[in-house]
Order: sequence, then C-alpha cells, then structure tokens
Amino acid sequence: MEIGGGSGREVTLREQFIITLRYAVQHFYIVLALLFVARSIKRRYFSQLYKYPGPFLASISRAWKVISTARGHTEHDFIDLHRKYGPVVRIAPNELSFASPQAARDILTAGRGFHKTDFYGVFPPPENPDIFTETREHVHAQKKRVAATPYSMASMLNQSDRIDSVIQMLRAKLDGFASSETKKPIDLGNWLHYFAFDVLGEVAFSRLFGFLDQGYDVEGCIRTIDDSQWYNGIIGQIPFADRFLRRNPLRQFVPFMATKNALITRMALAEMDKRKPFAADKEQKGDLMGMLIRGHERDPERFREGDVFAVAHGAIFAGSDSTASTMQSFFSEVLRRPPVYAKLQKEISDAAARGDLSDYITWQEAQKLDYFQACLKEALRLRPAVGVNITRVVPPGGADIDGKWYPGGVNVAVNAWVTHRDTALFGEDVDTFRPERWLEDKDKARLMEKYGFWVSLS
Ligand code: HEM
Repeated sequence: MEIGGGSGREVTLREQFIITLRYAVQHFYIVLALLFVARSIKRRYFSQLYKYPGPFLASISRAWKVISTARGHTEHDFIDLHRKYGPVVRIAPNELSFASPQAARDILTAGRGFHKTDFYGVFPPPENPDIFTETREHVHAQKKRVAATPYSMASMLNQSDRIDSVIQMLRAKLDGFASSETKKPIDLGNWLHYFAFDVLGEVAFSRLFGFLDQGYDVEGCIRTIDDSQWYNGIIGQIPFADRFLRRNPLRQFVPFMATKNALITRMALAEMDKRKPFAADKEQKGDLMGMLIRGHERDPERFREGDVFAVAHGAIFAGSDSTASTMQSFFSEVLRRPPVYAKLQKEISDAAARGDLSDYITWQEAQKLDYFQACLKEALRLRPAVGVNITRVVPPGGADIDGKWYPGGVNVAVNAWVTHRDTALFGEDVDTFRPERWLEDKDKARLMEKYGFWVSLS
C-alpha cells in the first residue's frame, strides 16, 4: 500500500512509520511528556474517583502523598486537607482519605473484608511477615489467633513484676538526676524512649536491651529504627520503588545502604536459640516469646517457628515507639499546663494518702484515677502515636463506608490525627488539650472512647 502523491517518489506506509519512529526516538522527551499528560488526563478526568475533591497533584500521581510523608508531618497536612476539602478527599489516583470516626470504624473493623494494602509489604522482613506486616487476610487471622492469648490484658498483667523492675530502674535514674548537685536539665523524652524499649524487651523475651542502664541509644539502635520507619513511611506510599532501593541485591555492596544486624534482632535471635529445642515438656518463660512458642507447639503447621520470631521481634517495633510517643505526649501536655499538673498531682497524692495505691501502682489501681485516665486519653486523642495514614483496600464487591457505597479495589485511608479532631464527637475545642472533656458526661465519654484509635477493633 502506498500513500501520498504528486511529483516526488511516493512514501510507503512502512517508510512513514520508520520516519515517525525515528522522530519519536530523537525527541523521546516530547513523547514521554505527551504520554505523561495523556495518563494524567485519564487519571484525573476518567477515573471512578473523579467526583471526589482534593489537590490536583494527588489526582494524577502518588507524589502528593510521598512529598507529604517525606516532609515529616503528614498528620498536619491531612488535618488541613480535610478542613479545606471536606470529609472525603482524593489523595492519590486510586485512594480516598476519610475524616469521619465512623468511616474509620467501618474500614478498620476486622472481618469486613478490608485488606491491608501493599504499604505493609515494605516493612522488613518481607519473607517472614509478622501480624503488623502480614497482608494476606487469612494468614493474618491465623497468626492473630495464636497471638491473642499473649496479647491479652490478663497476660500483660501477669508480666507486671518484670515491668515493675524496669520502672524501678527508671525511677532510680530520675531520682538520681533530681538529687544531683549539678541539677543539669535532662531530656525526659529520651529517657521515656529508653524505658519503652527496655520494657518491650522484658515483655517480649525477658531481656533488657540496656538503654536505661547505659543511658544512651546503644549502638544507635533507636536511631536505626527511626530511619527505617522514615523510609518505610515514604516508600510504603510507592511500594514498587522498594525493589530498586532496599530490596535491590546490589545495595549490600553500597556501604551507606547496607543494614547492620541491629542489636534488637541479634538479641531476639540469641534468645530464640537459647530456648531450643521447644519440647513441650521444657519449661518456657511466661513472656511473649514463651507464649508464642507454646502456640507453635499446638499448631506447628499454621504457626511456624519463623512466626514465633517474627511476632515477638515485631512487637518491639510495633510497641516501643508507640508507647514511647504516647508517654512523651502525655508528659509534654501535662507538664506545660500547671493547673492540669497540680490537679493530677493532687489526685495521686490523695489516693496515696488514703492507702489506695501500691508502691508500684497497679493497672487496676490506675483505672480508679479518673483524672489521670482523662489526661491519658486526651494525650492519645490529641497526639496519636501513629501519624501516617492507615490504609486498606475496599473488598472486591464494593462496600459501605459511613453510609455510602464505594467500589471494590479502591484504597481507603484514615488518619487518627484527623478523626480524633471530629468536632461533632469531641467538641468545638478539638485542638486543645482539655482532659475535662472526658469527665463531663459519661455517655459522651463512652462514645468518644469507642472511636479512639487505641481501642481494639478485632
Ligand atoms: C500507646 C500504645 C500504642 C498505640 C497508640 C498503638 C497503636 C496502633 C495502631 C493505630 C495500629 C494500627 C496500625 C495499622 O494497621 O497500620 C496498631 C497495630 C498494632 N500494634 Fe499497636 N499501639 C500501641 C502499643 C502497642 C504495643 C505495646 C504492642 C506490642 C506489644 C503493639 C502491637 C501492635 C501490633 C502487632 C499491631 C498490628 C495489629 C494488626 O494488624 O492486626 N502495639 N497499633
């Protein structure tokens, strides 16, 4: 077939194609730009999420989320985003963010079919996921069943003595600072961080990491975890990139990218080795690892030896920063407010004078300190430990969220910093630390607690 006509030699279709191809290769950047524009138009205007408001950049790429996470305070971006655009906002081509507390419950309640997204697959080690990183729903449920006993309140209370021994260490350190001649200021935040890690070491495998004893971040361990979580938060928004970065086989040859076998992992492995063989008649300790070993013995097929390690080790990562951050928020808010501090101190002193408190206050005794509980809930509400979005996928057939239907396969996200600032539920003064809101009306307090991110939804 020939095209063209007139005086010169006619150009065949094949030649025309080759000319176009050559032009495209020579000007590949124009082609790329055109492809990008075409893809952006498709994502922006021909998507099932077209009608939802949000930043333009978010509707055409995941760059908005990546930039927001990398800036380090994505929680504030999300508060501003919802105040600007409303309760449901498009934050990526295939992702919506929800502001309502009911939406958070609908999305996160176990058993409704909302699976974890590939965000979680970025958290190491991918070949042996723990409860937090496991994205296959049925495997997640299996692991969670075994972990239910060690994670129960009764098991935690059984560990009180070991936790008290760590409290004793922190107390001795703080008493030492208070009575020292120099009266040098200390960074309470750091000490609470050391304390949280040592407590988790005791709870998970009866070992102190030694942060409190040494008084510093031993082997830069906490720093390594912080860096790793920073990476996970950002790359989790674009999980495919992980293959070229942390999972790139070449990275072990790049000095600054190679990871060391961190102290916590080494100690967990050593502890695991010490407890082998896991014979049923061999006495296992009453810590998390010991209880998981018993779970493994009951069902070695479904809860493998690797799962024992992954879940015990994962607890350190899931539990230490979150409790440290909560304690830091609690003290930061209380200590900066003299009236709150005075009221709290009086409640504790009065209870002690009545003989209602042990030397190491028990969990049950602490439940009766109403103002203390209100301060704690208010810290958890105002400054939740998890600042990044929690994301799930809508089940294949679609599902209702906060009374409206959403199509299957769409990613849906909630951020505790946003839902905990719902004015209809928490009052107009949501940005203020005001523990009294928890003590004014019992029914309202119950409702507020129901929608708090610290309440288990399983
Ligand atoms: C004040 C303390 C804590 C807060 C505020 C907190 C908060 C959270 C939140 C918001 C999630 C959901 C994250 C997501 O799905 O992306 C979560 C999950 C989880 N947390 Fe905590 N946490 C705390 C303490 C702990 C502790 C002490 C442990 C372990 C000993 C722990 C272990 C876990 C695990 C294993 C998961 C995954 C659960 C699942 O996916 O089924 N957390 N936590």
